[in-house]
Amino acid sequence: QESSRARQFEVLQWAESLFQRTLLNSPEAEPARKYLHGRGIDEETMRKFRLGFHPSGWDWLIKQSQGKYPLQLLEDVCLVAKKDNGGYYDFFGHRIIFPIHNERGQAVSFSGRLLPGDERPSKYKNGSATPVFNKSRLLYALDLARDEIRNQDQAIVVEGYTDCIALHQHGIQNAVVTMGTALTDEQVTVLKRFARRVILCFDGDDAGQDAASRSVERFLAQDVDLRILTPPDKLDPADFLESHGADAFRELSKNAPQAWDFRFQMAKRKYGTGTIDGRERVLTEMLNVLAQVPKLSTSVRESILIADLAHRTSVPEETVRGLLNEVRSSGPKRV
Ligand code: CTP
Ligand code: MN
Ligand code: MN
Ligand code: MN
Ligand code: MN
Repeated sequence: QESSRARQFEVLQWAESLFQRTLLNSPEAEPARKYLHGRGIDEETMRKFRLGFHPSGWDWLIKQSQGKYPLQLLEDVCLVAKKDNGGYYDFFGHRIIFPIHNERGQAVSFSGRLLPGDERPSKYKNGSATPVFNKSRLLYALDLARDEIRNQDQAIVVEGYTDCIALHQHGIQNAVVTMGTALTDEQVTVLKRFARRVILCFDGDDAGQDAASRSVERFLAQDVDLRILTPPDKLDPADFLESHGADAFRELSKNAPQAWDFRFQMAKRKYGTGTIDGRERVLTEMLNVLAQVPKLSTSVRESILIADLAHRTSVPEETVRGLLNEVRSSGPKRV
């Protein structure tokens, strides 16, 4: 039978403190402490994010839990998993632990990162969704960032835990993380409760920029001021801070283009605007983007975007509107 939510929160909190004490005090966590220090994460930050360490072996946590919590409960919150033969093993064995908290600051799950040199697959191992862990709605570090997001009327959304941690340590405390995926509608709805502007700052590599571009298409319609910050040289935010510092990051975020501009620049880079063919393809691609938007939140916003597209491509507004209707009724055009 399912364990109660209260018991699940209890065991998650117990494990979190155990991992944290282990990271801060245990001799076997020395390589983990060294690694985090080497990445510029100081002890205050480790405490703030309640980082931890799960020692190696397959039953370290299982042994610690004996006489306290049943294995079924540990399995329900994804701290242990079943082996093929029916026995259990520690889910996060020999990893640095990033606890994931809900908006109220309660641990709801964990992500475990390999230490450098560890050849096992997947750099990060994430707990599965559980009754207390809703991945599509949760934003990592929202409990810590919420007040600052409200103060600044602006949230910074990154893709990695270490990016968010580095930002906070550098004094940029309105940063949160999507859970390893693109931004979801539910996450935007949550953020809109606190701020009008969302700065998406995914990694500067191709994967990050593709995710950013997909987000633009999904959120063009949302009543939110979405900006896209692209770290230069394919860096991620943590690497950027390490080499350029917080002021340089603040400068980038001040100049981050609006989502629509970002998407337009992207199309221009792809096709060029020096030729008629290039300009036609830019227009077609942007019409496809506009048409994908389920329903623009207000017709005002739609009119603005159509007028802007017409202006940028030097095509009459009525023509753009007609083409958009065409794409809407017969599907995206080949670019
Ligand atoms: N991620 C994951 N599983 C992986 C790799 C990544 O869940 N095998 C998620 C993690 O949430 C990670 C994010 O995707 O934080 C971004 O991945 P990546 O850029 O590869 O990692 P970084 O956050 O840059 O981590 P680090 O700097 O520690 O390498
Ligand atoms: Mn990445
Ligand atoms: Mn990184
Ligand atoms: Mn990264
Ligand atoms: Mn620094």
